[in-house]
Amino acid sequence: MKIHLSAATTADGALDDRSAGRLRISTDADWAAVQRLRAQCDAILVGAGTVRRDNPRLVIADTVLRTERSKEGRGPDPAKVTVTRTGCLDPASRFFTCGEGRKIVFSETALPHLEGAAETVVAERITAARIATELEKRGIGSLLVEGGAEILRMFLAEGMAHTLRLAVNPALRVADAAAPHFPFDAIRTGTPCRTERLGGMEVRRYTFRPDRSEEDLRLLREAVELSRRCTPCRSSYCVGAVIATRDGRRFGGYTHETSPTHHAEQEAAAKALAAGADLRGATIYSSMEPCSTRSSEPESCSELILRHGMARVVFALYEPDCFVSCRGALDLREHGVEVEVYPELGDEVRAINGHLKG
Ligand SMILES: NC(=O)c1ccc[n+]([C@@H]2O[C@H](COP(=O)([O-])OP(=O)(O)OC[C@H]3O[C@@H](n4cnc5c(N)ncnc54)[C@H](OP(=O)(O)O)[C@@H]3O)[C@@H](O)[C@H]2O)c1
Repeated sequence: MKIHLSAATTADGALDDRSAGRLRISTDADWAAVQRLRAQCDAILVGAGTVRRDNPRLVIADTVLRTERSKEGRGPDPAKVTVTRTGCLDPASRFFTCGEGRKIVFSETALPHLEGAAETVVAERITAARIATELEKRGIGSLLVEGGAEILRMFLAEGMAHTLRLAVNPALRVADAAAPHFPFDAIRTGTPCRTERLGGMEVRRYTFRPDRSEEDLRLLREAVELSRRCTPCRSSYCVGAVIATRDGRRFGGYTHETSPTHHAEQEAAAKALAAGADLRGATIYSSMEPCSTRSSEPESCSELILRHGMARVVFALYEPDCFVSCRGALDLREHGVEVEVYPELGDEVRAINGHLKG
């Protein structure tokens, strides 16, 4: 999933003031640019604090953009997502009543009062990693996180953002330390940033994760091709994996290549280690989500990836719930590993594993 953060601040970094009404920070030109950004995404997320304070509609207001989205078969509005611990959300708020997109609430508590108003995902601990993983499993491929302060901090602190668009209005100051401020301290020093002027605003674009989709897709396709060498059996998936080390070496493997209990990731890692390769910081491409539970071996593939200090995991298909409920992507993300999913190759992987249907 591609995660983009977007926020507008005053010259002194405030996201809002503490007056009764909502502080308008963006100029018209900036607001139009945010609308275009929204229109490109599958979903928009704000925290429950923003839903309560601003009562935002979070829809695409521009009719041209709505029509374009509809023509592309994406529906006029993106899905809306919010996050709560307390469950204190009013079903009459515009988050729930406006727009034609899905409404999804991540909550630490059951939300009977929102039944019929939204889909709910209840979990003991909600992290940016969990939100991204659960949304991806629901077919959402791009997310625009619009705030507020606590939510932006969570995504930045977990390293769960590809880009940030920060629009600063140099003509506006709040001068109130108790007002919500953008969490600048959560941006890692040295993050590449471009600045441009737009309709009276200074727009900063930070890139946390550069776009690697071309190389990712090329090597992921190699992993999918390797998975075709597997002999289908009722007890395991046919998976292929390719490890790319930081010094440019490649090692591939597939399920059961040398042992009836080995997974593809293990096969590729064993070849790399036998060749003396350093796996720290490597990227592993796997046709399917690395497993998190094993009955045939003591270590899962997710644990193997973490033990060797690999930095990135790229896969095409979340493991279906045929054998166990896999939480490989979530575990890896929660341990700071960058996980990228390319569902465009998912159907191919599903077809290769057609022997496990039903
Ligand atoms: N200028 C901008 O671009 C912009 C954009 C958006 C918002 N804002 C401003 O930002 C302010 C709101 O910021 P905020 O920090 O107070 O609120 P927020 O970030 O919008 O939401 C915080 C709330 O989200 C829930 N939450 C956060 N992390 C969670 C987690 N890990 N698990 C479960 N729930 C979690 C909690 O909801 P519960 O309390 O329900 O448990 C928490 O109180 C408003 O003044 C708004 O106007 C500005």
